[in-house]
Amino acid sequence: MIDGYTKTLGLIGDPVEHTLSPLIHNTLSQKFGHNLIYVPFHVQKELIENAIKGAYSLNILGLNITYPYKTQVMNYLVDIDDIAKQIGSVNTLVRFKNGYKGYNTDMPGLYRALLSENIKVEGSDIIILGAGGAARSATFMCAFYKANKVYLLNRTLEKAEKIANEVNNFFRRNCIFPLKISDHSKLPNKKFFVIQATSVGLFPDVDNVVIDDETFYEKIHTALDLIYKPKETKFLRLVKQHGGKTLNGLKMLLYQGIIAYELWNEVSVSDEIANSVLDELNKS
Ligand code: ATR
Repeated sequence: MIDGYTKTLGLIGDPVEHTLSPLIHNTLSQKFGHNLIYVPFHVQKELIENAIKGAYSLNILGLNITYPYKTQVMNYLVDIDDIAKQIGSVNTLVRFKNGYKGYNTDMPGLYRALLSENIKVEGSDIIILGAGGAARSATFMCAFYKANKVYLLNRTLEKAEKIANEVNNFFRRNCIFPLKISDHSKLPNKKFFVIQATSVGLFPDVDNVVIDDETFYEKIHTALDLIYKPKETKFLRLVKQHGGKTLNGLKMLLYQGIIAYELWNEVSVSDEIANSVLDELNKS
């Protein structure tokens, strides 16, 4: 029931039509009995500043920011959390005096998704595939939570080198090692946890995979594909065929939403509630 006390939250992006975020937040608000509503806002590039200012004037409690505005939005905030600033990506705005403060919940969301699956980061050797925005957050996450060695593989080596330099400098630790994807046979002969963070395999490109070579899959004990549409990518099928444990991107999506919800409402979401929201996501 919407009434005079209903608080508004929302998502700004372009496009926003296929988003699952309203399902996450409206399910959470039902579970908590909070009087709030979460709606998608399709905003054009040249109107993004107006949209943020207008949202503040309209007393909107908080916003998520999605493609393609996670960097651009940083220009219109009163404050930005340190790690979000360093990652260069803000996906959550929290209402403060005079404006919004920006956070990145993708990074801790990824970590909480791994925790919930008992996948260890600290002390682990990890491979990340890709060097775009998603891979960048994943690389910061691995360094922040003290992975041992992280091999950052990308088709364009320069992009992997740039992220590796930034992350190694920021954490004052030489833990990120860039490599060209086609050089994957140079990886040490051991078993890794792999995060697939390229866009290859994303719907409708479902028959593609970033590495075809079967020998690569023998080096994987566990893999997370950040893609959740389709729920099982060709990459995850290949990992499974070689005996590895697999996880798709739905749990990361879930937990980045949960952390945003916790920031907005000053609550803590239990595993039981998280799992019931995940059931809703899996049905969608
Ligand atoms: P996102 O924000 O989702 O990470 P992005 O910033 O566009 O998206 O990054 C896409 C990633 O997928 C990049 O790492 C890209 O590799 P390049 O940096 O070499 O472009 C990777 N990618 C996309 N198509 C690819 C393909 N056909 N083969 C290998 N990598 C690909």
